[in-house]
Amino acid sequence: MTRESADEAALIASLPTDFRWGVATSAYQIEGAHDEDGRGPSIWDTYCRTPGMVEGGENGDVACDHYHRMPADIALIKSLGVDVYRFSVAWPRVQPGGRGPANEAGLDFYDRMVDELLRSNVDPWVTLYHWDLPQELEDAGGWPERDTAYRFADYAMLVFDRLQDRVRTWTTLNEPWCSAMLGYYEGRQAPGRQDFGDAMDAVHHLLLGHGLAAQRMRAAATEPIQLGITLNMGTATAATESLADQEAARRADGLGARIYLDPLLRGQYPGDIMDDLSVRGIKMPVIDGDLAIISQPIDVLGVNYYSSHRFSGVDADGRTEDADGNPVSSTVPFGRPVTAMDWEIVPEGFTQLLVRLSKEYPGIPLVITENGAAFDDLPDPSGFVADHDRTAYLSAHIAAVAAARQQGADVRGYFAWSLMDNFEWSYGYAKRFGLVHVDYDTQVRTPKQSALWYRDTIRRVRGY
Ligand code: FCB
Repeated sequence: MTRESADEAALIASLPTDFRWGVATSAYQIEGAHDEDGRGPSIWDTYCRTPGMVEGGENGDVACDHYHRMPADIALIKSLGVDVYRFSVAWPRVQPGGRGPANEAGLDFYDRMVDELLRSNVDPWVTLYHWDLPQELEDAGGWPERDTAYRFADYAMLVFDRLQDRVRTWTTLNEPWCSAMLGYYEGRQAPGRQDFGDAMDAVHHLLLGHGLAAQRMRAAATEPIQLGITLNMGTATAATESLADQEAARRADGLGARIYLDPLLRGQYPGDIMDDLSVRGIKMPVIDGDLAIISQPIDVLGVNYYSSHRFSGVDADGRTEDADGNPVSSTVPFGRPVTAMDWEIVPEGFTQLLVRLSKEYPGIPLVITENGAAFDDLPDPSGFVADHDRTAYLSAHIAAVAAARQQGADVRGYFAWSLMDNFEWSYGYAKRFGLVHVDYDTQVRTPKQSALWYRDTIRRVRGY
C-alpha cells in the first residue's frame, strides 16, 4: 500500500458505521425497452435520433436491458453489500405525453422494483427526474415554459401516491444545471437548444417544479419522508489573483452553484448574478410567491461531484469578451491526471466543496448522490476488469468525503456512479462509469475490481 492510499484508508475507516453506502443509476441510461408497456418518447429519444448529437449515433433503446433484467440486477446490487440504491423513474413511462392519468403498466415496473429491493434489504432512493422529459412537453415549450413545472408536480404525485407506502427517500430533480445549461444553452444534451435566456427560464421553472412537487409530496405523506434535490457542483477557484480571474470564478460559481443553492436554501437568487444577468437584458421569470415555494425546507441536499475547475477572465486567445460581448469565464487546467471524460482528478476540491456547503448553507444534511469515473477499461478474456484507476479514484474521493466530515461537514452517505456501465448521454456507450462491466453484445454483467474494493470497503467501515 502506498503512503497515500494508507492515509486514505485511515480516513475512510473514520466514517461512522451508520454511514449510508449506495450505487446509483438513471432510467434512460440503463432501462432500454423504449417503446414497451406504453412508454412515450422523451427528449432523449428524440435527441439521440438527431444526426450528430450522440457519439456513434447511439441511443438508449436497449441500453443495459434493465427493464427486462431488473430482478437479476437487484441481486447484483445486493451482492455489492450496499444498503441503498438510487434509481430514477422515467416520466414517459408513467405519463407518456407528460400529462393526464398514469400509465399503470409503467408504474407497475417501479412497484415491482421497490418490492424486489425491499425483499433484498436494499433501501430504494427514488429520483423523479433524471432528464427524460416527455417529448410532448418539450413540443409545448419544455422547461423554459412555466407550465412544465406544474406538469412535473402532477407527475411526481402519481409516482408518490403509488410508492410512498414503501419509499422513504425522494429526490425531485437530478442536476438542474445540466437540464438548463447543457439542454437549453450549450445544446450538448437534450433537447439541444442554444439560447441563454431560455436556459435561465428553465433554471427557474426547474426550481419551481422542485418546490411544487416537494410541497405536494410533503402534504400527502402518510409516513415521515426524506425529501431533497440533487445538484452537481465543484469548487471554482480563480486561476490567478487577478481581479479578472476572481470575477471569472465568481461568475462560474454563481451560475454553477449559487443560482440553485440560494433560492433553495435562502429563498433568494444571488444578487451579483442577477446583476450580471440584467446587464445581458435577462431577468428570472419570478412570480410573487415562487421563492417561498422553492425554498420550503428540505431534509437532504444531494451532491454530485466529479471534478473542480480553475477559471480565468482571459481565454486562450487573449480575449476577455466572447462573441456576444459577455465577459469570458474560461477554464484553466490544474495539470492533473484526467479520466476518460478528460475531467481532471481533483479530490481536494470535493473536500473544499463539502466544507464550504456546510459553512455557507448550514443545517442541511448532505449525501453524495453521485461520484465516480470513466476509464478505458480492458476486460481480460473472462470479462474481468482490473480497474485500478477507478478504484484509486473512488478511494481518493471517499477519503475526501471523510476529510470533509472531520472538518465539520454533515455528510451522511455516498453513492458510487454507477452500478454498471451504461449509456453516457451524448458520449454513448464508449464511456464506462460502472463498478460492474457490461458486455453490450451479451448483456453479461461482471463486477470489476472497483466493485470488489467497494464491497470490501463498506464491510471494513461497518466492522465486519
Ligand atoms: C452526471 C449525471 C449522470 C452521469 C454522470 C457521469 O452528470 O447525473 O447521469 O451521466 O454525470
